[in-house]
Amino acid sequence: MSQNAHVTPDDTDKMSLEGDPHPMTDIKVRPLVFDFDAILSGPVWSKSSPEFSIFINALGLHVPYFERYLIAALGKAKKEITDPELRKDVSAIIGQEAHHAKNYMAFNKYLATHYPKGGELDAHARKYFTEHMKTDDLKRLVGFTAGYETFTFLAGMIILDNYDAWLTDSDPVMKALWVWHQVEEVEHGAVAFEAYQHLYGEHEWYRKYMVVVTLLHILGETHKAFIHMIATEGYFRKPWKALKAYGFFWSVMSRMAILARPVFEKGYSPRRHPLVNKRQNPVAKAWRKFEGKGGAVAKIDRTKMEEIMAQGVAK
Ligand SMILES: [Fe+2]
Ligand SMILES: [Fe+2]
Repeated sequence: MSQNAHVTPDDTDKMSLEGDPHPMTDIKVRPLVFDFDAILSGPVWSKSSPEFSIFINALGLHVPYFERYLIAALGKAKKEITDPELRKDVSAIIGQEAHHAKNYMAFNKYLATHYPKGGELDAHARKYFTEHMKTDDLKRLVGFTAGYETFTFLAGMIILDNYDAWLTDSDPVMKALWVWHQVEEVEHGAVAFEAYQHLYGEHEWYRKYMVVVTLLHILGETHKAFIHMIATEGYFRKPWKALKAYGFFWSVMSRMAILARPVFEKGYSPRRHPLVNKRQNPVAKAWRKFEGKGGAVAKIDRTKMEEIMAQGVAK
């Protein structure tokens, strides 16, 4: 095992962030609970982009079981980690992911009331990750987690960067759920990578291999759920609608794959990825400030979003 130094935000180029803290600092555990019974829109919850809401419901379906796998993986890895800062970050990511998993499992129950195969898809993901968290060795556990977290961080940035097009006119509970989740995915987006580097840094090829394995896993799971959901929503009766939705699926998946290119470079660190190191996402920046001052964020309608964004520019 290699014991590489923990990459701190101080090592990264912060100049272009104009004095704002790097988005991967201050990982805060926020024990939010979302009321899915209050969803009024039905499962296609974004009027701004119905395709996005179906896509992200499909992607999110298996995610809570990966999050439980991550908790098991990093819980075991923590016993081997000697860097106190990294140990602290590992505890924080475990705390964040525990709250994500709890909420997303509850949302899966909601989805299962609308989609005939919702329960089956949930059970499949649960079985896969529960078995693998028991049988995978530590290197695979941490490698898979680091690979997968590449894409939760990238998806987080893609979603936040497309707030206007995909989330402006959407259900307040679902908007709140995804903004919270994606801000936290970016916040802890370097931790699993750093745990892997700390323990197995010399095994670069395996880290890169796991990035490919996890992308294919996410693609397979999301595709299966997405096809079922668009079929249930009647998209296949209108070929143009089906084509548009399918095009959306592949455009977001390809964007994730393209944005993952720096991950294969020598000396990569998520903290130095151009998406977080060259600029701030305004929604994430404002939301963190608003929530940090005690603002309620379990439901975000248009008025609440205006309040949040005003906080982003306030001193
Ligand atoms: Fe998460
Ligand atoms: Fe995560």
